[in-house]
Amino acid sequence: MSEILHAVKGMNDVLPETAEAFLSTAVWDKVIDTARRVIEGYGYRQVLIPIVEETALFARGIGEGTDIVSKEMYTFSDRGERSLTLRPEGTAGCVRAFIEHGFAKTDPVQKWWYIGPMFRAERPQKGRYRQFYQIGAELYGASDPAADAEVIVMMWRICQALGLKDVTPRVNTLGDKESRDRYRDVLRGYMRANVDTLCDACKARIETNPLRFLDCKNPACKEVARKAPDIMESLSAQSRAHFDKVTTYLRDCGLAYVRDAALVRGLDYYSETTFELTTSALGAQDAVGGGGRYDGLIEELGGTPTPAIGFAMGVERLALLVAATQQVASGPHLFIAPMAGAESFALQLADAVRTGGPYRVEVDVTGRKLKGQMRRADKVGARFALVLGEDEIARRHGNLKDLRVSSTSDVALTGDAICAALAKLIA
Ligand code: HAM
Repeated sequence: MSEILHAVKGMNDVLPETAEAFLSTAVWDKVIDTARRVIEGYGYRQVLIPIVEETALFARGIGEGTDIVSKEMYTFSDRGERSLTLRPEGTAGCVRAFIEHGFAKTDPVQKWWYIGPMFRAERPQKGRYRQFYQIGAELYGASDPAADAEVIVMMWRICQALGLKDVTPRVNTLGDKESRDRYRDVLRGYMRANVDTLCDACKARIETNPLRFLDCKNPACKEVARKAPDIMESLSAQSRAHFDKVTTYLRDCGLAYVRDAALVRGLDYYSETTFELTTSALGAQDAVGGGGRYDGLIEELGGTPTPAIGFAMGVERLALLVAATQQVASGPHLFIAPMAGAESFALQLADAVRTGGPYRVEVDVTGRKLKGQMRRADKVGARFALVLGEDEIARRHGNLKDLRVSSTSDVALTGDAICAALAKLIA
């Protein structure tokens, strides 16, 4: 017998039926459709960009010193010996496309959103995978604090539209370059004064990246970080005013955010506002989404300086939260079971119902006995069933059977009449 092959560790199949509810198509459809509806409601339009980019884009964009670039990228040489990488995130690729297609000159205010797989060779655990999907949004050409507030509210609205309760918006600022440089020095001084308590990684970070000490997971470092000087005291007047406005707008929009001084994010391109949505329902992988302003990145990657801000949310994490609290129906609204001789009528009627309304209609095309057909209606989670035999076709009337409560309603066998009946019964 041939050996059975398995999916690569940390990479999931999303299927119509699964043992793990969060990997079911119905839950993913709900997450993706809801996010799309909310994001497009803010005027964003979808972009589809390649999954593979030149390695240099991520090295320069995300930063050589980050965990993502130094440890987690899937990098390979193609046949022409070019170094390519499976994208670990979507922002760098969007910026590459923004620059390459000259938007800075033609129309710098662009609102883009995307969905797709990202790849990071992290240690897999609940909520953390090696191939995972992100839904992201990027706004170019707007530097006003109103842009920051709107993007944060939009991310929050996606969670609300999904019915997620246990989600907290966290916001922080990293200030402009001048503020960050000043703060790094302050933090270095503080870390040196506490060097004996710090983990080895943080000892090294004193020189390389003191900000990352603030979100170190080591308990001893966490304790020291809790009392670290706040970046607020190092902010320039401009950065302070920007952040004050962002938080004022968030409050005006009714967003109950938490200011999190340790929110520094793991990608180097951020400046000014950073934010995350966290949950207590996913254990260690508590970030449902995150983002921030990255005004310097477009210039850094060779483009005309253009302000930018955006976020990305993890689809698996959203799906885990949805699946834990909700039953997501995916079965057909109507299951038509034709007896022998009624197949053609059934196919035409089903088409008329699909054309007339937003309903999922399945015809049993197996040719088996009624009992088997009804078993399938149950199995696929159909809401209503309609049996079509000679008698029904002759009368042009049938019984719409509600499979949840076992009641029936008489209905004329036309697409319009069935759509009207479903609309009334499902409401
Ligand atoms: P990020 O914080 O690295 O940001 O990722 C955003 C979200 O993707 C996380 O909050 C999490 O929900 C999900 N995620 C990240 N890694 C994994 C993983 N290994 N398994 C499952 N889910 C994961 C970014 O990627 C930025 N590009 C966001 C952004 C857009 N900033 C500005 N614009």
